[in-house]
Amino acid sequence: MLKTNINLEEMSQKETIEYLKESVQPEIGAIPAYLLGDPSVYEIEHKKVFLKTWLFVGHESEIPNKNDFITRDVAGYSVIISRGADGEIRGLYNMCTHRGMKLCRADAGNKSSFTCPYHGFNFKNTGDCIGVPLQKDIYGDELDKSRLGLYKIRVESYKGLLFGTWNNEAEALEDFLGEFKWYIDILAGRAEMEVLGPPQRFIIHSNWKIGADNFVGDSYHTMVTHGSIAKLGMVPSATYSKKGYQIYTENGHGLNLGTPNPDFAFPEELREEYKSNLTDKQYDILCNLKNMIGNIFPNLSFLISHTKIKGQLISNTSVRLWRPVDVDKMEVITWFLVEKNASEDWKRRSRESFVLTFSPSGIFEQDDTEVFTDITAAASGAMPLMKQLTFNYTMGLHRKPDKDFTGPGVVFDDKFTEASQRNFYRYWLDLMTK
Ligand SMILES: [Fe+2]
Repeated sequence: MLKTNINLEEMSQKETIEYLKESVQPEIGAIPAYLLGDPSVYEIEHKKVFLKTWLFVGHESEIPNKNDFITRDVAGYSVIISRGADGEIRGLYNMCTHRGMKLCRADAGNKSSFTCPYHGFNFKNTGDCIGVPLQKDIYGDELDKSRLGLYKIRVESYKGLLFGTWNNEAEALEDFLGEFKWYIDILAGRAEMEVLGPPQRFIIHSNWKIGADNFVGDSYHTMVTHGSIAKLGMVPSATYSKKGYQIYTENGHGLNLGTPNPDFAFPEELREEYKSNLTDKQYDILCNLKNMIGNIFPNLSFLISHTKIKGQLISNTSVRLWRPVDVDKMEVITWFLVEKNASEDWKRRSRESFVLTFSPSGIFEQDDTEVFTDITAAASGAMPLMKQLTFNYTMGLHRKPDKDFTGPGVVFDDKFTEASQRNFYRYWLDLMTK
């Protein structure tokens, strides 16, 4: 029996971690409500999850040319992601090493060097300090610029998806993604992909984990939250979202594959490109794909979905970051991805399909954000009963994995289970209690 008079704010971090070990029980499907609203849990997450793991920063196609850059937030700190004149992509902490001012205040651009707005120190996009105003005059020979280089953050890429981490001991990105790469290949490596336009950004009053949890394994809500689309006849039935597979792999990653699909939802003319980038088994999944929804731990969700526009099935592909801003607030950043070699017409229609469904004005997005904000409000604050409230994550605990599926991971042969959500929280708990 859990203690009821728990006040995490009065507990040391060590005691809170002990309480997490006691109260979070993914193996029996018990996830407490306070994880979504307690500031002390959020503080521990910052150190043990967000400063430790690989976090998504953008897509390579956002900086295609020499000296292109984007600035992105990585665990609360601004980072310049820059492509040098040598073509190499680097992550530079966006802080002048002289006095700490933010070097670059633009979201994106093309620059071979950055000049600090405070005292004018100048840094090449490799991080080297190359200019100090009046250096000889005011420092004499004393200033060693080679010791003033910008702090670098590790950045690695998989199939165009760029991730950064502050953790120099973190395993290589490809090892962290592990078996999940097989599915990321279908998402982001099936063809040469590009991001169209700057990412969409909007703030919602929700704990970040609700978004990750929803995408990693919650196909069940589609029937009800998005029930209006069945009523409008946009999908054949309310249980449309049940058919397919739910899959998880190590390190908390998971996805839902909606299959089968009698129609091919991708540009016909790219079949050869898909075949050359995918194995036969992956290509077979693509040909039968209705949708694909998942989450790369901790907070990069992704989606392939489709709509019928003028009788033709048009898929749209996007990735989205649930970027925590506070315990009860996140910035949702979404990138629309499309096959670079598709026709301009197809790209435009695919983007329309995306905006119609998942964007601040999209029909699915608006349904979901209502739910996310209400859950967060209900799970927040010092209400004394909060520490006793536990959510039920037992769906599918009785089921055995499907051994015959062609892809890696632990697979269930329909999507209405909470196995991927339990896997997400299992890995989260591992990191939090390490
Ligand atoms: Fe949803």
